[in-house]
Amino acid sequence: MPIEIFSDTVWQMAWGERAALTGLLSQLTPARAIEIGSMEGACLRQIAAHSGEVHSFDLTPPTLPQPANVTLHTGDSHQLLPGVLAQFAAAGENVDFILVDGDHSPEGVRQDLEDLLDSPAVAHSVILIHDTANERVRQGVDAVRFAAWPKVTYVDLDWVPGRMFAEPSLRDELWYGLGLVLVDASADALARPEVFEPRYRPTAPLLGLAKTLWLAREAARLADPDGDPVGVLTAELEAARAETAALRLRALALQDELVHLRQVQEHLDGCTAQLQETRAELSAARDGHAHERERREELDRILTEVFASPSWKLTGPLRAAKGALGPRRG
Ligand SMILES: C[S@@+](CC[C@H](N)C(=O)[O-])C[C@H]1O[C@@H](n2cnc3c(N)ncnc32)[C@H](O)[C@@H]1O
Repeated sequence: MPIEIFSDTVWQMAWGERAALTGLLSQLTPARAIEIGSMEGACLRQIAAHSGEVHSFDLTPPTLPQPANVTLHTGDSHQLLPGVLAQFAAAGENVDFILVDGDHSPEGVRQDLEDLLDSPAVAHSVILIHDTANERVRQGVDAVRFAAWPKVTYVDLDWVPGRMFAEPSLRDELWYGLGLVLVDASADALARPEVFEPRYRPTAPLLGLAKTLWLAREAARLADPDGDPVGVLTAELEAARAETAALRLRALALQDELVHLRQVQEHLDGCTAQLQETRAELSAARDGHAHERERREELDRILTEVFASPSWKLTGPLRAAKGALGPRRG
């Protein structure tokens, strides 16, 4: 017997996620729902089948025909979503269900979530976040401080855990994963202290660790197809340890060199100060020398003027006679 949610070939979700989403929707029957990121519109049709009205945000309209209760908001969710939420809030309308599956960049995911949580129209709501197993999406979700909104009563980012792909087009990439965030702004809910699901270790980081180990094992297999991968990895680990020890020694040697260079620098600073002092002394001596020369030239000029003066010439015979008399005897 064909099962509709499994036979859909364009819906961008794992089968388990489809079952979880439609199961949740059939219980919740939202009066108003939002999907951020609709692509062809396969998931949008499912949300619409269980909701009073659905608002879809995507850069392009869906290719699949949609029922009449779907309103398309074509453009960037970061531009359009806050305005639409503000209209709902102004009309006193609540958004009961939201699927966040649009911009998958860390900043994009974070902004979509924060825009939702900031809105009074998201007061009694179930939020699902898709692809929480993906490293970049998870980075964005982890950046949201859910506890900062007291109306957030429960967060399980691995409500449906993700997958590591084997198929060639997505080989070794982490995708899927549904995160669940419950919002309840009623007074009873606000009194609850715990927000995060405390029973389990977060699955996506565990998957990330498994991916790293898996890739290392694959690399070891490629390097030595007939060898024992555990043995090869152990040898690589030993080599990495030895390299780390060598790097530590090099770091110590560099530190010593740095101390020596600092000492050389201090010595050079001293020499520079001394050189500046000597320069200043030399310059002062040069100034003194120039002053002496100017004074001598001035004296020469005065003597020349005296010898050329009429009074010197008039008194010439007198000086000659005085010379002829010779020195006086006492
Ligand atoms: C993974 S697909 C959505 C799949 C869909 N929810 C489903 O389950 O079939 C992501 C969609 O997000 C849309 N998208 C990416 N950035 C967006 C943005 N800033 N604003 C609105 N939609 C965006 C893309 O155009 C793409 O159609």
